Amino acid sequence: MEILRYIRKLPKAELHLHLEGAVTAETLVELSARHEGGRMDLAAARALFHYTDFSGFLMAFKAVTEHLRTAEDYELATWRMLQALARQGVVHAEVYVSVGVVYYWRRCEFEPLFVGMERARTRAEAELGISLYWIFDAVRHFGPEEAARVFRKAAELRGQFPSIVGIGIGGDERRTGAEPFRELYEEARAAGLRLTAHAGETVGAEGIWGALNIGAERLGHALSAIDDAELMELLAERQVPLEICMTSNLRTGCCLRLEDHPVRRYFDAGLMVTLNSDDPALFGSALENEYRLGQEHFGFTREHLRELAANSIEASFLPGERKVALLRGMESLE
Ligand code: ADE
Ligand code: ZN
Repeated sequence: MEILRYIRKLPKAELHLHLEGAVTAETLVELSARHEGGRMDLAAARALFHYTDFSGFLMAFKAVTEHLRTAEDYELATWRMLQALARQGVVHAEVYVSVGVVYYWRRCEFEPLFVGMERARTRAEAELGISLYWIFDAVRHFGPEEAARVFRKAAELRGQFPSIVGIGIGGDERRTGAEPFRELYEEARAAGLRLTAHAGETVGAEGIWGALNIGAERLGHALSAIDDAELMELLAERQVPLEICMTSNLRTGCCLRLEDHPVRRYFDAGLMVTLNSDDPALFGSALENEYRLGQEHFGFTREHLRELAANSIEASFLPGERKVALLRGMESLE
């Protein structure tokens, strides 16, 4: 209990979190009652969250997304997610929203939905003191043409909504590497967007090289870097932030046993490690749980946890002065 209190007091940023994956079964029941033909009870909602491998997980993610239909639905999902984060002492979150799914499966416009998300974001900033930046995720296996729509929408809306900070490619790496997105990443960078990519989650180290080669500034998962000594050296030298998601890797079957997870080896090799929850509701986890796992299973001390929290602030896309203020607040912590 004592350690949980310490973890909650640490000012933390969550850098790898999917809005749709933060929708709990209870919220899903509430959402389902809003729409014709979709009503579910809690048992049915919980059943949606069952899967046995990575492909099954992506299907579960899609099933949840199907219940997010209106601006009010996206507003509720955003608000509940931010409430849960604020309770854990998260001061800032950079959240993926699967704009690619909205375009590809739903074939509808994203802006009207985004207005709801922004309402919840500004309310949470005022009432809970937590800030949020959006990262538009393209879902890589829908291909570069679909990704272009997503990234160009991010670029177009950024002027009006400065909370849109970057872009990413989640989805299934086994179906496409990062290279086909090279030109789109260049275009997004030129438009002032920050570049992230899921990399080395379900594939080997070549997936991480690919993401670095197209200019990704932050890497989601990077599980397979451990297999490539040259890559490990480069990641350490460049201090490329890694968005590590331990529970996610276990639940999707990307890492079979917690003791095999490379997080501690990355940390000891001087890599820029951050801890994240990815899809907390789908994985039955939460950010504070990732820190607790680190302490219990990987021997991270309080000082280490503080360093991991500081890394999350440093690796965020926040302006320098806010980073400095947040890091100062961490110094006095007992
Ligand atoms: N979309 C949501 N979570 C994801 C993950 N862990 N990997 C790839 N795509 C995702
Ligand atoms: Zn993810």
